[in-house]
Amino acid sequence: MSTLQDKINNYRQLFFDRAAAVKESQQVEELRQLFLGRKKGYLTLLFEEFKNLSPEEKKTAGRVLNEFKTEIQSKLSELEKNFPVSGTITPIEDLTLPGRQLYWGAPHPITLFERKIENIFISMGFSVEEGPEIETDYYNFEALNFPPDHPARDSWDTLYINDKLLLRTHTSPVQIRVMEKKKPPLRIIIPGRVFRRETPDPTHLPMFYQVEGLVVDKGITFAHLKGTLEFFLKALFGEKIRLRFRPSFFPFTEPSAEVDIECIVCRGQNPECRVCGGSGWKEILGSGMVDPQVFKNVNIDPEIYSGWAFGLGIDRTAMFAFQIPEMRYFYENDLRFIRQFNRK
Ligand code: PHE
Repeated sequence: MSTLQDKINNYRQLFFDRAAAVKESQQVEELRQLFLGRKKGYLTLLFEEFKNLSPEEKKTAGRVLNEFKTEIQSKLSELEKNFPVSGTITPIEDLTLPGRQLYWGAPHPITLFERKIENIFISMGFSVEEGPEIETDYYNFEALNFPPDHPARDSWDTLYINDKLLLRTHTSPVQIRVMEKKKPPLRIIIPGRVFRRETPDPTHLPMFYQVEGLVVDKGITFAHLKGTLEFFLKALFGEKIRLRFRPSFFPFTEPSAEVDIECIVCRGQNPECRVCGGSGWKEILGSGMVDPQVFKNVNIDPEIYSGWAFGLGIDRTAMFAFQIPEMRYFYENDLRFIRQFNRK
């Protein structure tokens, strides 16, 4: 019995020395293992020894051992409070909850609409070209036959980077870039971003999308322009859609026409229609026969070749097709808006 008491005294000394030296939570756990470990803990071993004592001895020994155990446990829990284990506070997980839904990325509505347009033209044998968003005055204006004092050159419309460079105001400069490199026959479309100095409002933004079209070959006439655009717009808006070609002016086409489509909201029946303003028509593109001067600028002989071109505002056409009242919705990155166009 005295040996057991001696051992306890030694172990108590050891325990409190160690406890005083504790500096971090891990050492608290080590100390617990050393004394209360299930197989080799010092106290556990003492309890093993206890089993061999006589019933007489067990009386006092049991009490002393249990007191020592309580001492150890209360010191350990005090230490645990002083050295909390960081980062192990496990949140209560509810394993019955359904899994988190995965959101797949999906194309933006403008991209979807652009692809729809591209596919219609690809089906007619057109190929897709691209050009730079930062342009020179030459490609954006001069080569397209803009006189130096043309209003479209006015700084009101154009965002200049410096004297020589600007953000393209339309996709037409890519007509020039392609015709410089490739010789006719050409059948291309050119989708892309364009920039104008506009104050944002529901139908205007300083950045928007256009798709340009260009056909150059021998014997191309206005009939090709009209037939192709009619086919395209019927593929986009349905066979029944009515179109209107109005005479217009662009420096790089002659003659030129703007194309309106019948208002798909009121079909011309509502004088107070919010979409078409009651006119029954919606202007969506500019077009015309390539001006002979433009061909001369790229060394294509206008006596041999002729061609036609068009430029369509993708955003405004998409707004019309999807019946969206605000162009800004396209660029606000509001997923509640964007997800509506990707329903499977
Ligand atoms: N580039 C013209 C615009 O932005 C549209 C257009 C393209 C007109 C091609 C005729 C031919 O308004």
